[in-house]
This record gives sequence, C-alpha cells and structure tokens, in this order.
Amino acid sequence: MTMQAKEFITWKSIYETNIPKIDDQHKRLLVILNDLYRSFIQKDGADVMLDIAKKLISYTKYHFTAEETFLSKINYPKLQEQIDEHIGFKTKIDEFYINIEKVGMSVEILQFLQNWLKSHIKGKDVAYSQWIFENKIDFEKFI
Ligand SMILES: [Fe+2]
Repeated sequence: MTMQAKEFITWKSIYETNIPKIDDQHKRLLVILNDLYRSFIQKDGADVMLDIAKKLISYTKYHFTAEETFLSKINYPKLQEQIDEHIGFKTKIDEFYINIEKVGMSVEILQFLQNWLKSHIKGKDVAYSQWIFENKIDFEKFI
C-alpha cells in the first residue's frame, strides 16, 4: 500500500454558511489543515510542521475574532456559546503546539483538529447562519 497524501478534510455543502467571507475563511482553515496533514504524511521535518501549525493557529485566531466581531454587530443571541467553543479550541491548539514542539505531530492531534472543525462548522456556525437567514438580517454591511 502506498502512502497517498490524499485530502484529509474535504469541503462539503453541509459546511456552508452562505456568508461568502465566512465560507472563504473556513475553506482556508481546511486548506491549512490539509497542508499540515500532508506534511505529516511526507514526514517533513519538525520545523516545517511547526511552521504550518503556527499558520493554523494564527489563522484560526484571526477567523474567530472576525466571526465574533461580526456576530456581535448583528446581535446574535447565542454569541457567548460561540465564544466559549472558540476559547476551548484556542486553548487546545496552543497546547498542541507545545506538544508538537516536544514530541512531534501525532495522528491524534490531526484527528482532533479535523473532528473539531467539522463539528463546529456544521454545528454552531451553520446555526448562526440559519438564524441570520431566518431573521432576514442584512448581514452584508456588518461583515
Ligand atoms: Fe467559524
């Protein structure tokens, strides 16, 4: 069996919020996670993997801030739930970074990142998007 570096996480329509800027940011997160996975499969050096991990962490934080700012501007009633999940994930990825530095990347870390992103996007993120469209929020001017 050959080690095919296939896509680790694939974009699906169930992840769509139909808010273009948000969907683009989510797609970017998936791209970086796929880069990290490929790097792991190719057995790249620790420096390469840490570099990609750093990119994932900083882009995640950038995206979370953008999302929270947007949801706060439109007075999303469940903003706090979003913030809480975001805080949990930020803590986790900071811990992972230290772990990768110390003992290297692991399948468990990659699996956690994949599962978390999938369930957060199709859960909490799609939920705010449904609220936006149900309430006919004119979101364009707030994003
Ligand atoms: Fe998000």
